[in-house]
Amino acid sequence: MISVPDFQKMKRAGEKIVVATCYDYTSALILNGTDIDVLLVGDSLAMTMHGFPSTLSATVEMMALHTAAVARGAKDKFIIADLPFLSYRKSLSDSVEAAGVLMRAGAQAVKLEGADGNLELIAHLVASGVPVMGHLGLTPQAVNQLGGYHVQGKTDDDARKMMVDALALEEAGCFALVLECVPSSLADAVTEKLSIATIGIGAGAGTDGQVLVYQDMLGLNTAFKPKFVKYFMKGAEGVARAMNDYAAEVKSGEFPGDENSFGPSGMAKDTGASERVRRLRADDGGPARGPHAAGKARARGK
Ligand code: KIV
Repeated sequence: MISVPDFQKMKRAGEKIVVATCYDYTSALILNGTDIDVLLVGDSLAMTMHGFPSTLSATVEMMALHTAAVARGAKDKFIIADLPFLSYRKSLSDSVEAAGVLMRAGAQAVKLEGADGNLELIAHLVASGVPVMGHLGLTPQAVNQLGGYHVQGKTDDDARKMMVDALALEEAGCFALVLECVPSSLADAVTEKLSIATIGIGAGAGTDGQVLVYQDMLGLNTAFKPKFVKYFMKGAEGVARAMNDYAAEVKSGEFPGDENSFGPSGMAKDTGASERVRRLRADDGGPARGPHAAGKARARGK
């Protein structure tokens, strides 16, 4: 498992850091056996797992539930959990409490969005033993302020502000920084200027690492494909095909077969024995009976 100091070591060595979001136990088990370096329990789960229109609906309780599920499945991965909308803007003690809930749920670090008004909290969390990842550029928790999901840092003023914020986050103690939807040239400049690692999403190839949302990269979420997403699998098509195969086999009687059924002893059905019983019944002149006989006959076109 990589640890906080490894982020900087990998940056210095020019070794890319690979991050994927993960929200559930089954996916965490799979990802635990892969080359992905870091799992992010992003507040994007409000959208991908719960169907809300934005990340604003994520709560600390929701984040803790998903973080704990991921931690149970991915015991060998560094896990970062998002502090959800407003959970770190009430008071310092409420924010510390929210971070504590996510760390106790199994995260090794937390992520929060923006620099303005967060620097004191970041310094306090870091001094308290909570590693903090920053997030600049398109910060989805500020979608209403930003007027939508648009590329950020396009004007000189905005680019300058992002650089100032990035340096302030590093100074406050962040161990890494997500740059979301920013021009590649700006992401490159920030990456060069900072000594902490930058992790890009829609920020070009020059950042120290990349992060993608699980459902996006697996092609499971085909309703909308942002430019920065690449499908590494045709997930939705594959799942739909498998489900249609299942439906067809149930309707035809092909599934479940003997290999998926139990004999009287409770063990897997002995296909040889059931074939013998079928033949004996047929020799008796009686119809071949049994739970699958009608369906199988239909499947054979009888
Ligand atoms: O919530 C999330 O998934 C994120 C990533 C897109 C960086 O913050």
